Amino acid sequence: MDQLLSSPAIVQGLRKVEARIRRLSGSSALPAISAGAGRIVAAGGKRLRPALTLATSLALGKTPDRRVITAAACVELIHAGSLVHDDLMDRATERRGARTLNAELGDGKALVIGDFMLARAGLAAITAVSRPVAEVLAATVVELAEGQYLETTDLFDPARTRESAIRSITGKTAALFRAGCLVAAVCAHASPEDRARMAAYGERFGLVFQILDDLLDLTAPAERLGKPAGNDLRQGVYSLPLLLSGTDLGDLLGRPMSDEEVEEALRRLRASRMVDDTIEYCRGLASDALAALPVIHDQEMAGILYGLPTAYIDHVARISLITPR
Ligand code: FPP
Ligand code: MG
Repeated sequence: MDQLLSSPAIVQGLRKVEARIRRLSGSSALPAISAGAGRIVAAGGKRLRPALTLATSLALGKTPDRRVITAAACVELIHAGSLVHDDLMDRATERRGARTLNAELGDGKALVIGDFMLARAGLAAITAVSRPVAEVLAATVVELAEGQYLETTDLFDPARTRESAIRSITGKTAALFRAGCLVAAVCAHASPEDRARMAAYGERFGLVFQILDDLLDLTAPAERLGKPAGNDLRQGVYSLPLLLSGTDLGDLLGRPMSDEEVEEALRRLRASRMVDDTIEYCRGLASDALAALPVIHDQEMAGILYGLPTAYIDHVARISLITPR
């Protein structure tokens, strides 16, 4: 990920994307909405999805122009807006070290500021990028909502299947990574095959990203997460790493857990094969991601896109394995 985020071409593009994100989030006729949306985008984030949009554009031989920059900003705005909704649903009070909008302004205002961010991205895509890009983004928002909905229907379900978990994260996370790559391929007028290849790469990497995020929730110390470990367990989200671990948690699942029970579940999971099996599962997805990539003539971008999934898996494996188990 460092290689992607420190590439001079990407850094230069991200500066423009950042300015566009700030302009869009601050463009409401109501200053209070601009302030709320602005606070969320200013709270940080790695800008991984727009960086992937820029890398895809460069990989396909297109220097990111105004349209690509706007498309990348729209992708990040959708991500940030969906997090506002997610925090509301989670009743979270903090994200990225800052108070959430629901904690600060109440649920109703947070809800409509999230709506504003999603809608503003759609408007920018149709007016300043292109209809095909707007279509990709609108279809992605549909998938985000469906993936998130599926997660809620599975909450506290001890019979949750791996297939159901994968379907949910494909919608709630991987779809936006896929869109991040696809919009750049559309702007570059890539062939249908290359579009499909870049979209598949984005989706596979997005799955890896979410599965590792879920693994860290079960393995990383609270200081690193910026939130208590085991948040998913508390909320009744039985994520893929848990489902892959084969750990017997039967006495603890299917109902809310006390703090002591969360600790006990984490202890059992960390003593299981969860980390190894999850990492192995992600390596399979990474290999599918690399197999999907089209021919890339730009050597730097080829190195970045080929290296990204494995570098991130190795990084999370190191964190997860040094945690006391
Ligand atoms: C964070 O994941 C949440 C998401 C990746 C997507 C959330 C999507 C929605 C709320 C649907 C959006 C609604 C519309 C209308 C697009 P997480 O909860 O696993 O991670 P966290 O620990 O960062 O909260
Ligand atoms: Mg959440």
